[in-house]
Amino acid sequence: MNLTLIGTGYVGLVTGTCFAEVGHRVICVDNDAAKVKTLQAGGIPIYEPGLEELVRKNTAAGRLSFTTSTAEGVGNSDIIFIAVPTPPQDDGSVDLSFIEKVAREIAGAMTIYKIVVDKSTVPVKTGDKVAETIKRYCKAKVEFDVVSNPEFLREGFAVEDLMKPDRIVIGVKSQRPVPALKEVYAPFKAPLIVTDINSAELIKHASNSFLALKISYINAISVLCEATGANVQEVAHGMGMDDRIGKRFLNASLGFGGSCFPKDLSAFIKIAEQVGYDFGLLKEVQKINSEQMNRFIKKIVETLWVLKDKKIGVLGLAFKQNTDDVRMSPAIELCHRLQKEGATLNVYDPKAMDKARAVLNNVTFVQDMNAVAEGCDAIVIATEWEEFKKLDLEKVRKSLTHPIMFDGRNLFDPAEMERLGFIYKSVGR
Ligand code: UDX
Repeated sequence: MNLTLIGTGYVGLVTGTCFAEVGHRVICVDNDAAKVKTLQAGGIPIYEPGLEELVRKNTAAGRLSFTTSTAEGVGNSDIIFIAVPTPPQDDGSVDLSFIEKVAREIAGAMTIYKIVVDKSTVPVKTGDKVAETIKRYCKAKVEFDVVSNPEFLREGFAVEDLMKPDRIVIGVKSQRPVPALKEVYAPFKAPLIVTDINSAELIKHASNSFLALKISYINAISVLCEATGANVQEVAHGMGMDDRIGKRFLNASLGFGGSCFPKDLSAFIKIAEQVGYDFGLLKEVQKINSEQMNRFIKKIVETLWVLKDKKIGVLGLAFKQNTDDVRMSPAIELCHRLQKEGATLNVYDPKAMDKARAVLNNVTFVQDMNAVAEGCDAIVIATEWEEFKKLDLEKVRKSLTHPIMFDGRNLFDPAEMERLGFIYKSVGR
């Protein structure tokens, strides 16, 4: 099929590439000319495992191309997917101006029936607004359908999630676009749910908020574990064995971050408020998340006492493993908070150092994870990168002036760390 993706961020670029990989012909549109030039030359603006290879392969095969022209994308495709940012505003609500602008541009370029699919995370009822806008701005007055098709990919696992989705959600007003969308997704062999547009839009916010709730729940349990001498990983394991609960997203941590959970929670609370419901449960999820970071900082301060004139090594800057994304990263917040307390920092991340340079000042970027602790009073683990599990612990212990490790991701076994001579403080254990 001929498909167009508007927006080449995480969602648009990975979705477009995976559509091409299964055989569709895909045009990716972005209004950032420099980014389009980079993509045309085979460069990838983000780090995402497996993506670069797929972009090169499908571009070479002629199935994937990049342009700045919305008209070109609309003219050459039957289905146009909108995947532009929906950033948060100061009051927690979502800025829909990019969606509105793209809807106008698509409308202006339409000369025959098109299916316009929203993939961006948007508040419920946005589909109605997109349809109204297209109707108003389409001079050719042609027929069209607006569809909601939320994306559930995780950064760092985006290609994997796209190629093997748990489910595909299609929200429609009429049945007319359904066969075409079934054809788009047939190669992915995933269960496909066809529902109404409002429900599809709600599924996305409800899912992300529930996952954030699951993390805050286990983080709250971690407080009880610390107070009673229980082990949060043992508790999570025992809970997760129940299929109704499930094992995933029960890793206690220094809190969740990223460009989705914090934003989507605020947006969902706001959406509820606008329809007259006080979503207190989700406010508590936010509160637990910020308290979790406060508690972790407190643990560091209580152990090291005064942080002024102390040097701390920080492992991990990305908001999670397998990504170079530092947006709303708990690791970056941790660095800022430690600096505010007067500490100087050595930092390391396998992929996020370049992006972190824009948000971190006066830190020393170290090129080797085993060297980050050199001359430090303590080392902190802030991101759950797999490779940190392979730290040369003997070397790290010797290079620290005091063998103290704060592990915000529970990567090591406390008994083993003690045996190795560390003062080891983790979360909920
Ligand atoms: C999330 C959703 O998972 C995805 O479906 C949606 O499309 C976008 O938002 P993402 O933000 O990429 O994806 O990352 P995710 O893997 O969900 O992690 C989010 C945050 O939660 C990270 O900071 C991560 O470290 C943290 N986390 C995750 C925990 O602290 N504990 C866990 O058990 C899981």
